[in-house]
Amino acid sequence: MDVEQVFHMTGGIGHRSYAQNSSLQKKASEMVKDMTLETVQELYLTTAPKSLGIADLGCSSGPNTLSIMKEIIEVVQGTSRKAFHAAPEFRVYLNDLPTNDFNSIFKSLPEFSKDLNKEMNNGGSPSIYIGGYPGSFYGRLFPNSSLHFVYSSYSLHWLSRVPPAIYSEEGKSINKGSVYISESSPPVVAEAYLKQFKEDFTLFLQSRSEELLSGGRMVLILLGRSGPDHVDRGNSFFWELLYQSLAILVSKGEVEKEKLDSYDVHFYAPSKDELEDAVRKEGSFQLDRLEMFELERDHHKDNQSYATSVAMTVRAIQESMIGQHFGEEILDSLFENYRRLVGEEIAKEDIKPTTFGIVLRKL
Ligand SMILES: C[S@@+](CC[C@H](N)C(=O)[O-])C[C@H]1O[C@@H](n2cnc3c(N)ncnc32)[C@H](O)[C@@H]1O
Repeated sequence: MDVEQVFHMTGGIGHRSYAQNSSLQKKASEMVKDMTLETVQELYLTTAPKSLGIADLGCSSGPNTLSIMKEIIEVVQGTSRKAFHAAPEFRVYLNDLPTNDFNSIFKSLPEFSKDLNKEMNNGGSPSIYIGGYPGSFYGRLFPNSSLHFVYSSYSLHWLSRVPPAIYSEEGKSINKGSVYISESSPPVVAEAYLKQFKEDFTLFLQSRSEELLSGGRMVLILLGRSGPDHVDRGNSFFWELLYQSLAILVSKGEVEKEKLDSYDVHFYAPSKDELEDAVRKEGSFQLDRLEMFELERDHHKDNQSYATSVAMTVRAIQESMIGQHFGEEILDSLFENYRRLVGEEIAKEDIKPTTFGIVLRKL
C-alpha cells in the first residue's frame, strides 16, 4: 500500500501554487500524475527518440506498480500520433531493492500488455521491453546515457542507512527517547540525519547524471517537511507515535529499554531549501519545478479505518526492520498500540505530512 491510499494530497506551495487554483479542487495525487505526464510529453516533443528509456526507481510490487508506466506509454503514443511521428519503442527499467518481489511484477506483464493493447485499439501496439534491475538507487544501476526519463515515487526519503554519527564509540545510540529526530533529540542527531541525506541524495544525482542523456528529465516524489523545523505534526509525528507505541511495550516488560534506546529509522524528511541546495551543489541538474503538497487525511474514511490504514502502511514499511531488532513476536501488539494512538491523535487534530514533487533536467 502506498501513502496516497491513506492520504489525499492538497494544496501546493512552490514555484506554481496549486492552492490558488483550488477551484479545480484536484487531488494532489492527480497533480503529481499531471506533473509526471506533462514532463514526459514535453521531453518527448523536444527529443522524439526512436527508443525511449524510462526507469521507475523504488517501484515496489503490487497492483499499482505498472500503472504509471502505462500512463507514460499512453501519453507518448498519443503525442507521437498527434505530431505525425512514428511511435518510439519503450525500454522500461524497473528498480527496487533485491528483496522486492520482482517475480510478481513479471507475472503481471501479460495482463499489462493486454490492457495496453486494448486501449491502443486504433493506434497500433507499442513495442515495450521491460526489465527488472535489482539494487540500491544510491549507486549506478543502468548503462551510461541509456535513459531519457527517471521516475521515483515515495522512495527517496529512505536513507541508505541510519546515520553512523548517532552511535557512540561503544555502538550505543545517542538518540535515546526517540526513533527519529524529536524534541528530546540532541542537535547532533538532526545534523547527522541531514549529513546522511546529503550524502545519499548527492550519490543518487551523480549516478543518474551518468545514466541520463543530456536534456533527460527526472520526476521525484518524496516526503519532506514544510519549514526548517524538524519536529512537526507531519512526518516526524508518525515516528513519535511509533516510539510511544514501543515505549508501551517497554512499560509492560515486553521489550527491553536498551533495545528501544538503540532503535532508529533510516528515514529523512528534507526541507525545500535542503533539496534545492543539494541539487545546486551536485551541479548536473537544473531544477525545473518544485511543488509542495500537504497530505490530508482521507475524509471518506472514519477515524478508526483511517488509523488502521496508517498502521498498515507503517507496518508494511517497518515490519522487517522492527522484527529483526525486537523480534517478530511484538509486531501485532506494537501495531495495535500504534493504530490506537494514531486514532486518538487524529480525533484531536489532523496529522498532515508534507510531500515534494520535483522536476529535474539533466544539463
Ligand atoms: C513506499 S514504497 C513506494 C512504492 C511506489 N513507488 C509507490 O509510489 O507506491 C518505497 C519503495 O522504495 C524502495 N527503496 C527504498 N530504498 C531503496 C533503495 N536504496 N534503492 C531502491 N529501492 C529502494 C523500497 O524497497 C520500497 O519498495
